[in-house]
Amino acid sequence: MIVSGSTSQAFAAALADATGRDLAAVEYDRFPDGELQATLTDFAADDAVVVGSTVSSDAHVELLQLQDAVREAGANEVTTVLPYMGYARQDAAFSDGEPVSARAVARAVSTGTDRVLTVNPHETAVCDFFTVPAEPVDAAGRLADPLPADLADPLFLSPDEGAIDLAATTRDAYGRGSTDYFEKERDYDTGAVTVEPSDAAVADRDVVLVDDIVATGSTMSEAIAVLTDRGAARVFVTCVHPMLAADARTKLERAGTTAIFGTDTIERPVSAVSAAPAVADRL
Ligand code: R5P
Repeated sequence: MIVSGSTSQAFAAALADATGRDLAAVEYDRFPDGELQATLTDFAADDAVVVGSTVSSDAHVELLQLQDAVREAGANEVTTVLPYMGYARQDAAFSDGEPVSARAVARAVSTGTDRVLTVNPHETAVCDFFTVPAEPVDAAGRLADPLPADLADPLFLSPDEGAIDLAATTRDAYGRGSTDYFEKERDYDTGAVTVEPSDAAVADRDVVLVDDIVATGSTMSEAIAVLTDRGAARVFVTCVHPMLAADARTKLERAGTTAIFGTDTIERPVSAVSAAPAVADRL
């Protein structure tokens, strides 16, 4: 059975559809002191797929509770799916005294499961932090689905070199177009992002920006500004994880994006396509 955390109900439903597995009923409650309690009401299976994007500290706790509950209800085999793994970008200690937060949460998640699947973690090496077998799942190809069929001489562009593979995967799934990347620098004191244009000609072309995550929207809005300045036709923002924190959505609209498309690893109004089929293939 598939057991969903409160943050991933649409993803879990899509996963149930894609795999033909039943979806367990879960009640999500909160005590007066703020503590969470997620309760299974009809779980009956030998194996469980616990699904939860850890978009907040509460979501982390809820996931641990569900892992515990399925074991208690008799599951012998537990697979945990993290459509979005929170804290994955904190994958190193940058100064004395800092935790490696990705490792800390990975260890905690590992205690309640036999296996982990996580969709497009920021770095695949984060999977090594789990103490059970853990694999990344690439859902970038799904980002081609919501794009219009009439893209003009499309360029699939990643805002930094680290995401060029995602741009290539999306281009391959779309079926035509070229790929390139910008060089990005972030000032970690101010959060300001600058991108250096590549040599790619963008005038009158439709550009599809592709990244693993849009968080504050600074990276994408800076890229849109450069592309607009250089005469790009339409600029589409695509990402696997549409975190869209704070005013990110407004920033992107103000920067002049044509449309924003993400997957349902983080459930937002822009979640135009499901990453669940990519996970289903690996279950
Ligand atoms: C960083 O390397 C990531 O791939 C994203 O580009 C970054 O995390 C996006 O963050 P923001 O939306 O805050 O600029």
